[in-house]
Amino acid sequence: MTKHETKKRGQFVTFEGGEGTGKSTQVKRLASSLEAIGTDCHITREPGGTQGAEDIRRLLVEGAVERWDPASELLLHNAARVEHLAKTVRPALDAGVWVLCDRFTDSTMAYQGHGHGLDTTMVANLHWLLYGSFKPDLTLILDLKVNDALARTQSRNASETRYERMNQSFHDRVRLGFLEIAKAEPARCVVVDASGDIEEVERRIFEITREKLNQIQ
Ligand SMILES: Nc1ncnc2c1ncn2[C@@H]1O[C@H](COP(=O)(O)OP(=O)(O)OP(=O)(O)O)[C@@H](O)[C@H]1O
Ligand SMILES: [Mg+2]
Repeated sequence: MTKHETKKRGQFVTFEGGEGTGKSTQVKRLASSLEAIGTDCHITREPGGTQGAEDIRRLLVEGAVERWDPASELLLHNAARVEHLAKTVRPALDAGVWVLCDRFTDSTMAYQGHGHGLDTTMVANLHWLLYGSFKPDLTLILDLKVNDALARTQSRNASETRYERMNQSFHDRVRLGFLEIAKAEPARCVVVDASGDIEEVERRIFEITREKLNQIQ
C-alpha cells in the first residue's frame, strides 16, 4: 500500500432473531468461512463487546424477568451499545476488519419496542439521536417458529435466561417485530430460514453474505 492509499473500511454484519434461532452458532461459522477466504473478522456481541458493556449485559440477561421497567431496559441496552460502538465496533471497521455482531439495534426495536410495547417511533428516535445514519451493511435475521427456537435453548448456558423466561406472546411479538423490520429495510436486511441443521443454515448464510456484499463492495 502506498502512503496515499487507506485501508478499505470493514463491513459490519449483524445477526438478529429471537432466542435460540442460532445466531451465536452461525456468527462463528460465518467468521470461519470468511477468514478462510482471507477476510479479517472480529466477532462481537450485544449487549456486550467491551468490559463495561459486558457488565451491563449481566444486569440485562440474568435475574428476575420483572427486574427492569421497559424504558430502563431500553436505556441499559443503549448505554452498552454506545460503549461497544465507540470502543470496539468503529475502531475495527476503521482498521479494515469486518465486524460480525451477535445482535444490534434491531434486537432493541424487536424486544423493547415490539415485545415490551414501547413506542417504536421513540425507540427509532433514540437510535437516531445516538447513532445517526450509522447502520449495518448487512443484517441477517434468523427466523424460526418460537417453540422450535426455545426448545433449542434448553441445552445451553443456564444463567443467561432472563429473556427466555418471558412469555410466549412476548416471543411471538418479537418474531413479528423482526419480520416487520426486515420488510421496512429490504436493502439491509435478509430473513434467513433458520430451520434445518446447522450446516444447512450455515450454507444459506454464506451464500446470502457473498451475494449481498459483492453488490455493495
Ligand atoms: N440449526 C440448528 N439445529 C439444531 N440445533 C441448533 C441449530 N442451530 C443452533 N442450534 C443449537 O441450539 C442452541 C441455540 O443456538 P444459539 O445459542 O446459536 O442461538 P442464539 O440465537 O444465539 O440464542 P440466544 O438469542 O438465546 O443467544 C445451541 O445449543 C445450538 O447448538
Ligand atoms: Mg446467542
